Amino acid sequence: MIPWAKPDFYGYEEKYLKEALKSTWISDGKFLTKLEKNFSNYLSVRESIAVSNGTAAIHLIYLAMDLKKGDEIIVPGFGYMAAANLAIQMGLKPIFADVDLDTFCVTAENIKKKISKKTKLIVITHTYGNVCDIKPIIKLSKKRKIPLLEDSAESFGSRYYKKQSGTFGDFATFSFQATKTITTGEGGMIVTKKGKSFIKKVRSLKTHGVLKTRYLHVYPGHNFRLTNLQAAVGCAQLKRFEKIIKERKRIFKYYEKLFFNFKGVKIQKFNKNVSPVVWTFALVLDEKYFPKRDKLIKNLLKKGIETRNGFYSPCRMKLYNKYKTSHLKNSNYLSRKVICLPFYASLKNNQIKKIYNTIKRFRSI
Ligand SMILES: Cc1ncc(COP(=O)(O)O)c(C=O)c1O
Repeated sequence: MIPWAKPDFYGYEEKYLKEALKSTWISDGKFLTKLEKNFSNYLSVRESIAVSNGTAAIHLIYLAMDLKKGDEIIVPGFGYMAAANLAIQMGLKPIFADVDLDTFCVTAENIKKKISKKTKLIVITHTYGNVCDIKPIIKLSKKRKIPLLEDSAESFGSRYYKKQSGTFGDFATFSFQATKTITTGEGGMIVTKKGKSFIKKVRSLKTHGVLKTRYLHVYPGHNFRLTNLQAAVGCAQLKRFEKIIKERKRIFKYYEKLFFNFKGVKIQKFNKNVSPVVWTFALVLDEKYFPKRDKLIKNLLKKGIETRNGFYSPCRMKLYNKYKTSHLKNSNYLSRKVICLPFYASLKNNQIKKIYNTIKRFRSI
């Protein structure tokens, strides 16, 4: 069986985990401090805040921004719906902007169409390891004075004009969920360009609104803490991140080589200025050659290859019925046609070849 994703643990994970257990510091502890420091160093940012998962990271930004009921948040029409779901949960209004058909990423042009007087935040998602064309988005966000959040859950390590994803916006969030480029099982990180007081507020909201004095609550906060045990795994993963990147680049290159001239599929496009650390290899299927995407997924599974459909577009989910979604033509198209192929650092070239040959066998003409 070739799984769709698989974490890679090479030794330090176990060593650090044992160290953390032995220390008896299993909630807070030195690995948390180390992970935040190393993550900041890696991204060349001042400070990083470790949290329980990527969703909690976005949640904390919304809370710390003091967003109010009815405030509008622009979110992409294709991608993982964490930012949209949280908005609904908090009484905010998700306003969907369509994505580009080739890159799967939201564009400045489509965001601009959705800005209103009530817009309080723009969330962009760097889907599947791609990086949105950020320059025009930043220009727009600055001109209209609307803060920008980069959801970098799927793009840790990817670069845009040599600069790391997650270092452009006012805020960025990351996920360390099991399938992600580096993992702590569940986990996440926040980075921000905001000053000390904002960071202090985020840290406080993360731990029940306590600032300094134990049990003295200043905000109605949450428990969104990452544990020292998880951070121990995270430190080990980060230690070998360059190796993980190297393997992911190899896998992408080989997939690209095989599928470049393959009739019936289009590879997700990465612009020249993007150096991606790809999260999954995504293909858009041509109906003529692959009439039924979901049938292909089932057939591949029978042959021992686990794949995934692309994200559902909000137009296809009841939950989002009351929000405007009919304009999301590209998002809707992608949600029907995208298939994501296995992608993890230990995936071998002969397995990729097998995936390629099996897909070829299921092509209708
Ligand atoms: C783009 C994106 N945002 C947010 C999340 C949520 O992260 P988590 O699962 O760590 O809560 C994920 C994935 O899991 C994601 O892919």
